[in-house]
Amino acid sequence: MCKLHVVATPEKNARALAGFIARWAGQAIADRGRFTIALSGGSTPRRVYEILAGPPYASQARWDRWHVFWGDERCVPPEDPSSNYRLAKEALLDSVPVPPSQVHRMRGEEPPEEAAERYEAELAGVLGDGTPELDLVLLGIGDDGHTASLFPGSAALEERRRHVVATRTRHLGTYRLTFTLPLINAARAVAFLASDGSKAEAVRKSIEPRAGETAAPAGLVKPASGALHWFLTTDAAQQLSRVTA
Ligand code: 6PG
Repeated sequence: MCKLHVVATPEKNARALAGFIARWAGQAIADRGRFTIALSGGSTPRRVYEILAGPPYASQARWDRWHVFWGDERCVPPEDPSSNYRLAKEALLDSVPVPPSQVHRMRGEEPPEEAAERYEAELAGVLGDGTPELDLVLLGIGDDGHTASLFPGSAALEERRRHVVATRTRHLGTYRLTFTLPLINAARAVAFLASDGSKAEAVRKSIEPRAGETAAPAGLVKPASGALHWFLTTDAAQQLSRVTA
């Protein structure tokens, strides 16, 4: 079961997700003393991060209890304009006091397979052995239905043992690091963000797949016991049959 949050504009959508993250973080810290989150990349979440970096969250959140991870990263140096780390650093982490030792950057500048194995070890070091259970994984969705860097037809999408793998994007020919479905689906909560009408079909295929359709990668995100939330604008949700505002 997934919870749909549908609002009229991208700004309202960013504010809704920022508020959810802040509340979820507060609950995690109350329950377990810390909050472990995997940020998503792409362009849509920038505004969410900017809102979290401003009032009231900047002064209210217990940033010293946050552990920040990334659900995927482009295999580029951290200062590269396409780096997901750089996006979050500029929009959020440079403005809030998350201890540097609790900012767990995927090393996009290292050989991809080594960086993937290193990140799996880093996750285990913080979250323990077995399948790490993050408090929250943020995800975007591409118009082809990809999420994180799990692209349709990729071996990464089929991976059921590893938690982090290197993958080569066919359409771009570039390498990325990505969480796999077993890791994403172990999270206590997953929150998708889509604020553009170009994602409407991918959103519908993910939430309301039709018989005979190839499952969209985002539609394979089904947390085993965690909560699944979709934060959508009305145009991103326009092809859904059930839209609870
Ligand atoms: C990435 C993301 C990717 C992204 C979607 C949506 O590294 O690009 O992890 O999955 O969330 O492609 O991107 P936009 O927000 O830019 O539409």
